[in-house]
Amino acid sequence: MEKEAIGIIGCGAMGSALAKGMTKTGGLEPVALFLFDLSKTRQQQLVTELNSNSAERLADFIPLCRYIFIAVKPQDTEGLLYTIKNLVQPDQIIVSIAAGITISFIESCLPSGTKIIRLMPNTPCLIGEGAIVISTGEAVTEDERRKVEKLLKPLGLTIRLPESLMDAATGLSGTGPAYVYLFIETMIDAGVSVGIRRDVASKLVIQNVIGAARMLENSSQHPAELRNLVTSPAGTTSSALLILEESGFRSCLLKSIREATRRSEELRLG
Ligand SMILES: NC(=O)c1ccc[n+]([C@@H]2O[C@H](COP(=O)([O-])OP(=O)(O)OC[C@H]3O[C@@H](n4cnc5c(N)ncnc54)[C@H](OP(=O)(O)O)[C@@H]3O)[C@@H](O)[C@H]2O)c1
Repeated sequence: MEKEAIGIIGCGAMGSALAKGMTKTGGLEPVALFLFDLSKTRQQQLVTELNSNSAERLADFIPLCRYIFIAVKPQDTEGLLYTIKNLVQPDQIIVSIAAGITISFIESCLPSGTKIIRLMPNTPCLIGEGAIVISTGEAVTEDERRKVEKLLKPLGLTIRLPESLMDAATGLSGTGPAYVYLFIETMIDAGVSVGIRRDVASKLVIQNVIGAARMLENSSQHPAELRNLVTSPAGTTSSALLILEESGFRSCLLKSIREATRRSEELRLG
């Protein structure tokens, strides 16, 4: 019988987002999910919440799984890969979310021909609104990639990119929520500085961001066209935009994302 069970190694922020998304919204039967973490408290909390399988040792569940998700910190990944090396079988798919760890590096740690998929998720995966970039190793077939994309569907949007763009995807999308949070935080502070209560400013700003994003999502218009709709001649928006342009808002954001990409390249392993 073909094995289809899923193992997740690392039950932290991202590992639990994967586990919850796949079971709670993705319809994966909890009996088909094995969870493992060095922190047995964290592992047990998630197992209890999802009613899934708990594994004491890697050898207890890896042989039963078709998909093995590696969701530990990048610095813990190499050691883990060497630990599982002798347990991995040719029909299994290793899915790594570790930032900066390349497919060729993972391949070099595991038996030759192992099927590797690399992901760059972001934190909104925790609520099913994530953006996930996916790259695959040469041994992975189109059908296998589609099956993994199906598993990831409850976590948000999945976009295929060549692995050569993974550092760019890290700088733009893996890190992306931080830029948006800083923008939101600053707008809320600005609201307070012009006399609006912080809780009210917070509600208004969050809804502005959600509303603007949804309008873009639902229209074929360029962001500049939607911006023009808000900008009347000699009005308030054009006054604000002038200050943003004069202060280098665009070039600052462009440079920040280029710098995050460069830093990702610097941290890359493999
Ligand atoms: N968070 C993000 O925004 C984000 C975005 C994109 C990609 N990622 C990637 O997602 C991965 C996981 O990040 P995270 O934020 O979820 O980390 P996390 O919250 O620290 O979770 C990692 C978990 O793995 C456990 N662990 C460490 N070594 C292990 C081993 N050998 N076997 C089993 N469990 C082990 C850790 O236990 P201890 O705490 O006891 O060590 C911890 O519970 C990272 O590689 C990161 O690059 C994260």
